[in-house]
Amino acid sequence: METSIASDKAPAAAFAKRLKRRVAARQWDFFAVTAPNLETLCRRELEALPADVQALKTVTGGVEFRGRLHDAYAANLHLRTATRILMRLARFRADSFGRLEEKLAAVDWELFLPQACALDIRVTARHSRLYHSRAVADALGRAVSGRVAVGAADELPLQRLQLRLSDDRAVLSLDTSGEPLYKRGLKSTGGPAPVRETAAAAVLMTAGFSAGMALADPMCGTGTFSLEAALLAQGIAPGRLRNFAFMRWPSFAPGRWKEALRRADRRQQRLDRPFIVASDLDPAACETLRGVVGAHEILGVIRVENRDFFETAPGPPPAAGGLVVLNPPYGRRLGSRSEGRALVREIFGKLQADYRSWRLAMILPKGYVEEKPPFAVHFSPLHHGGLKVVLLTGRVPA
Ligand SMILES: C[S@@+](CC[C@H](N)C(=O)[O-])C[C@H]1O[C@@H](n2cnc3c(N)ncnc32)[C@H](O)[C@@H]1O
Repeated sequence: METSIASDKAPAAAFAKRLKRRVAARQWDFFAVTAPNLETLCRRELEALPADVQALKTVTGGVEFRGRLHDAYAANLHLRTATRILMRLARFRADSFGRLEEKLAAVDWELFLPQACALDIRVTARHSRLYHSRAVADALGRAVSGRVAVGAADELPLQRLQLRLSDDRAVLSLDTSGEPLYKRGLKSTGGPAPVRETAAAAVLMTAGFSAGMALADPMCGTGTFSLEAALLAQGIAPGRLRNFAFMRWPSFAPGRWKEALRRADRRQQRLDRPFIVASDLDPAACETLRGVVGAHEILGVIRVENRDFFETAPGPPPAAGGLVVLNPPYGRRLGSRSEGRALVREIFGKLQADYRSWRLAMILPKGYVEEKPPFAVHFSPLHHGGLKVVLLTGRVPA
């Protein structure tokens, strides 16, 4: 009997040892994926992480960094502008199908993936002999299913794998995040044109929003700016309310995760007085947002009002400053470009009349901005739902 217990324990201990040596204890290359134009902000965030990440390099579409697996826990938990965190599993030459299969078979998949999972395989191929991305994806699926149980996404956790082929070189990556990081776990439904949380955080950071300032979000829709501002101003980690793909991996270390949460919580400075006013013309949007705010204690700093932007005036900003953030309707719902320009002129007029000394951040399609806005603003490029838009930041004259 004793012999049998010892022999049952032996494979588990050997597996744990392999996990530690081959996964947890070593350094990995990671890639924080961002939307275009958010790379620099994301790098700044990575540099400020409570984690030991090194060798940062900004490239188009994201930031490369190096660290241990638990440093990726911190990246997922804290980064406001990253869309997901990829872990580089292998890089190899892949100039023939045989070589690709050999390299994929050499990966210790059982050390990385849940014992049973569904796969979301993404392959891109550029200037490569292996250009048939479907066949490459099938080869990757076969290699994984030889080592862990692969099944349907409605029954098993979904794990995303990426294989990028470029000039016959392959980069194989494992997604550590799961659902994209702009899903913060606050909203349950979307609105007609919500701005992504990652872009909203970037807008607030670019406009210099910080703790102590007031925020006016007078065309709030689903309230993305207000929700992001509540998290940002209180130092709440944006991933505090959600789960991540790495939590289902055999290497997941709950002690490390709890430590990351404790560190995150020490950075919080909870505020109780409402300093964010989210308002919208649409009563249904306000009602939905009120539901979200009411469901989370940390959102008690947001007041939701059903009001017309053009019929209200917030008064002067508090001594620490105030930011008015606007993402007016546009596109089909608004009509032609000239109608869009007319609305933007009206908004500027309202700001000059009733938002004197407030900082401004406004997202607009490029063509909607007159050559010369009525006061000095800075233009930055931004992507919003596949559209190229501009972010205007500045201060409304006193
Ligand atoms: C593009 S959406 C804003 C999306 C928002 N940023 C989000 O993340 O959900 C524009 C919003 O402006 C609101 N709106 C349009 N005209 C308004 C007005 N005069 N006063 C207040 N809200 C207005 C619409 O009801 C809509 O919710």
